[in-house]
Amino acid sequence: MSEALRQAVIDTALAMNASGINQGTSGNVSVRLAVPDAFLITPTATPYSQLTPTAIVEMHGVTPQGGRPSSEWRFHYDIYQARPDVAAIVHTHSRQATALACLRQSIPAFHYMVACAGGRDIRCCDYHTFGTQALSDAVLRALHERRACLMANHGVVATGASLAAALALAIEVENLAAMYLAACAIGTPVLLGDDEMDCVLDKFRHYRA
Ligand code: 13P
Repeated sequence: MSEALRQAVIDTALAMNASGINQGTSGNVSVRLAVPDAFLITPTATPYSQLTPTAIVEMHGVTPQGGRPSSEWRFHYDIYQARPDVAAIVHTHSRQATALACLRQSIPAFHYMVACAGGRDIRCCDYHTFGTQALSDAVLRALHERRACLMANHGVVATGASLAAALALAIEVENLAAMYLAACAIGTPVLLGDDEMDCVLDKFRHYRA
């Protein structure tokens, strides 16, 4: 089981780069384990194409087993502690969302799909140096009642009930950022009101294939 989950982390990291929302060794991927306080995470500074299941680091609380975890293990750890609804996390440096995050702007309700991140907007957290507790605290704040956020001058964090869901949300956030920037380039987008976004959020709660 753990071997399959380790491979699933690798497959998600490879898919993240293949989809065009990340490049090189930027970003990281993790998945919660059934054991309390435990999760698997990509190792730091390692090309995803070189990963084998044994290279995936197993965290037990703040203690790594079997290698050097991603430098961002703190926010992965803190999200799993604070958010029982989260089973997987994908962090990217996707281009358009990061461009917006470099302006320290959130994505407002310019499109109803913004609700896919769980609220009326997708917040941008404050800037802090990568790998720090301060960054983790800022990410946690921006994720309050949200499944994804932008990170100022850095990138994106997307969470989900599975690796596939977290990756799909990371892709959607990048798509929304691209649409928002395109709209801003030719005018001022008309924002949806709170009542409409609340209606969409309610419909999403019942939206199933
Ligand atoms: P790691 O290689 O340590 O995961 O760092 C990549 C990154 O994106 C840091 O924010």
